[in-house]
Amino acid sequence: MKSLIFLYSYHHNNTEKIANAIAKVLEAEIKTPQQVKLEEFQEYDLVGFGSGIYGEKLHKSILNLADKLPRVTNKKAFIFSTSAITEKKNNHKAIREILQSKGYIIVDEFNCRGFNTNSFLKFFGGMNKGRPNAEDLKNAEEFAQNLLKL
Ligand SMILES: Cc1cc2nc3c(=O)[nH]c(=O)nc-3n(C[C@H](O)[C@H](O)[C@H](O)COP(=O)(O)O)c2cc1C
Repeated sequence: MKSLIFLYSYHHNNTEKIANAIAKVLEAEIKTPQQVKLEEFQEYDLVGFGSGIYGEKLHKSILNLADKLPRVTNKKAFIFSTSAITEKKNNHKAIREILQSKGYIIVDEFNCRGFNTNSFLKFFGGMNKGRPNAEDLKNAEEFAQNLLKL
């Protein structure tokens, strides 16, 4: 199964750590929205879309990229994120709906907490210090192992 991961991670590179753990198991390439060529998409059986959560959504560069994708058939996708507050049902809604409208089958979704120093939090040492931690990375690996079984 040929897999690709799209990643945008900038705040503390939290989501990059999760992407690396997943990519290792899937033997997937990781690309940023800037590195990707839309015509390459058809080559991959499984595509992951991941970023931190900003304003209750994945980063707009991932959403914009998903918007430009050609329609596909029989292609699988997964969504992953890190956030201040663990929540994926609503935070993944926008990307989930775009991908489904392109014909992708969303096979699974992953979220865990990530270190956050947004806004006033920086004055108090931030929240979720040390996350993602070793357990989060282990959970991400297990998530990826399950993707291989689908
Ligand atoms: C501008 C900004 C907006 C954020 N908005 C949210 C949010 O709506 N919900 C949430 O749970 N976390 C929010 N966070 C926290 C980030 O999702 C969290 O720190 C994440 O792990 C950052 O991922 P990254 O290091 O991969 O960029 C926000 C952080 C920033 C900097």
